Amino acid sequence: MNFRKFRHPSNFRFANACSGSALAFGEEAMGCTLRDLGSDVFHLALGASPRWPLDARPGGLDEVAFAGAPSTHTLRLCPQAGLQLQAPDGRPLLQGRPGDTWGVCGSAWLLQLSREPAMRFYGQGEKNGPLERSGQRVLFWNADVWADHSMREVVEGAPDPLYVSIPYLLLQAPGGGWVGLLVDHPGAVFMDTGSNWFFSGRDDLGAPPSLWLGADQGVPALYLLAGASALEVTTKLQRLQGCTPLPPLWALGHHQCRWGYGGTADLQRLDAGFAEHEFPNDGLWLDIDHMDRYKVFTTAPAQFGDVAAELAAVNAHGRHVVPILDPGLKVEPGNPLAEAAREQKLLCQTPEGQPYVGFVWPGRSWFPDFLREDARQWWAAQVRDFAALGFGGFWIDMNDPAAGAAALDEMGFDHGRLPHWAGHNLYANGMAQATRAGLLAARPAERPFVLSRSAATGMAPHAAVWTGDNWSSWAHLRQAIPTSLNLALSGLPFNGPDVPGFGGHADTALALAWYKAGCLFPFLRNHATAGSAQQEPWAFGPEALAVIRHYVRLRYRLLPYMAQLWRAQAAQGQPVLRPLFMDFESLPGMDLSRIGDQFLVGPAILQSPLVEAGATRRSLALPGPGRWLDMGRGAFVAGGRIIDVQADGAAETPMHWREGQLIALQPGVPTAPGCDLANVELHAVLGRGFEGTAELHYAADDGLSHAWQQGVQTTCTLRLHREGDTLHLQVQALQVGWQPLRLCVVGYDGAHTLVLQQAGQPAQTLALQPLEWVCSGAPLAAGRSQAVLLR
Ligand code: GLC
Repeated sequence: MNFRKFRHPSNFRFANACSGSALAFGEEAMGCTLRDLGSDVFHLALGASPRWPLDARPGGLDEVAFAGAPSTHTLRLCPQAGLQLQAPDGRPLLQGRPGDTWGVCGSAWLLQLSREPAMRFYGQGEKNGPLERSGQRVLFWNADVWADHSMREVVEGAPDPLYVSIPYLLLQAPGGGWVGLLVDHPGAVFMDTGSNWFFSGRDDLGAPPSLWLGADQGVPALYLLAGASALEVTTKLQRLQGCTPLPPLWALGHHQCRWGYGGTADLQRLDAGFAEHEFPNDGLWLDIDHMDRYKVFTTAPAQFGDVAAELAAVNAHGRHVVPILDPGLKVEPGNPLAEAAREQKLLCQTPEGQPYVGFVWPGRSWFPDFLREDARQWWAAQVRDFAALGFGGFWIDMNDPAAGAAALDEMGFDHGRLPHWAGHNLYANGMAQATRAGLLAARPAERPFVLSRSAATGMAPHAAVWTGDNWSSWAHLRQAIPTSLNLALSGLPFNGPDVPGFGGHADTALALAWYKAGCLFPFLRNHATAGSAQQEPWAFGPEALAVIRHYVRLRYRLLPYMAQLWRAQAAQGQPVLRPLFMDFESLPGMDLSRIGDQFLVGPAILQSPLVEAGATRRSLALPGPGRWLDMGRGAFVAGGRIIDVQADGAAETPMHWREGQLIALQPGVPTAPGCDLANVELHAVLGRGFEGTAELHYAADDGLSHAWQQGVQTTCTLRLHREGDTLHLQVQALQVGWQPLRLCVVGYDGAHTLVLQQAGQPAQTLALQPLEWVCSGAPLAAGRSQAVLLR
């Protein structure tokens, strides 16, 4: 796969006639099937043709999710524009480029659309570059980034493609309205949103700008999703691909990893380190050194004695041990796993029917064929047995798939049915699916957690992703924000970078900045490559440790809030990390469409970190309408404007909480792993004079099992308004299927009294006692009520 050469429409032949259900390329006629799936979700596919003999699309997306509501947009093939999507008011949101819409070139195809300069683009899965994706030429083909690109490109943060391929574009139409285009194709997809092809920098024929996407082979097919807002289209995309199942709470905690951690001595040392520093940490991760000569599902005798007993001792402290699993099976006489996989015909094969050989950590390696159900079941059985030793979850790596210097073309799938191109991007999803199934088999009652490096469309139900081998640099820190946001917009909300960078050496300033920016990212793992400077939180000295620990404790404080966000993801497909334009409109003088260095964590928390070396101040957009509570100063400030903020203390970071929100925290100072969701400190972000009613639907569960789905959960709706300096809280629809909810309320801006009203009980009036707490800057003055048990 050549990453530097792309197909251009100039070399395509375009359909010269287009009707409701057919296209003509001169003499060649081709059918086109357009299906309206309901809820403004459509599927479009060109018909069978000798040009694309193999339809390798795996299916499996949830098309029936949309049947309930009729579409209000209209999608049609039309003679002039080739393709047109109309908004409910008849406005065209998207149209084919007149006369040049559907193109073919041998086995390749493309769809070309008119591009208005005011269009905005997002998504594209995991990509480098800006949040807004105009002018990008990208490829969707899972890469083993450090092996497939030059190290210079890696360090500069320039390579494309990366590990994850979701060929999706979210588009904002100029007059309002949003459209999602998801290419329904398992192989490499290319996309161009107006990149420059000309040495002169200008189109020499003066052609109007266009946007195109296509593939080298395979049936041309795509989903189109339309809606009034980015949030609406994103939740539809998520439901189509499958939502992230509610994660175990420990997966949302802090994780400690390093290439070099291999076994019991490391686990004990880390366990003791986190305990000594009273630093909450849930995950302890093991890299490849835990294996016996890199043989997957083994442990190295030098690293472990009695594996189960040693893991049990660490687990007893609330830690979850997560080892790496690589797909490559060591080819070695007497390696029972490799031999069994070969005998049972579970391996990827060359066109000659031999097991395909690649060169990864174990040396000469064979690869389980994760495109096959029998291989997935076999892998799941290995995972089940390995997990039973006491491992909490797994991270699956090298599943791009990586094969070292060996050409991948010869790696075929499904006993020769699928050539490499048709299975490449799907390999990681199959491995994740099987790994999750194995964890479920080992501990059926528990929510499994799998982290994957690579992924394709439809990964969210199986695994979270980390954004692979990044670098300890300010540029990579800055990049982490748009990359994570665009992954969320593409249907992979559970993601995060290696903090404070994998390659290179993080200095103290970078480590602090990375933790302050990333402390509320969906996934938070400290990971570093072999040979780099130590970067455990205490490796940067006591002052830095105190700051890092403060922000990780803040994450643990906010776990009840974050747990609600993951419920909304699991139920409706709502993203967790969001760009500002998802919850707010741009205003005159405040264009939110290109802001890639600020983000929202759910609907209530705005972070605007300092991500430039040496910076002590920045300007930031405070979206509006409404006010924000400045969490570094304690004042309510008006939104709808750009402000300048100073944050020169090492422990400060610009953070704002949205007025009118109820934010659930765990009370106290978290010093150990875990969090009790039934013990809540409810922060009422309502300043003096706020007139609305804040509402929160809160759910508590054990944070670990599936029992919440059978009603083992405590849920209620909390409604709170402010009259003068008194907060009035109504507890409604309380259902106690788990523990009773222990709740105290924190008020700001002079609030001194709480009136609590529970159904069928007399109102309780409680005084708010003065409280000072530090969030992201100076101590905040607040008032806190005593805790009340809701039964
Ligand atoms: C790959 C992974 C990295 C891991 C290393 C050794 O580079 O992306 O996270 O530490 O392999 O297993």
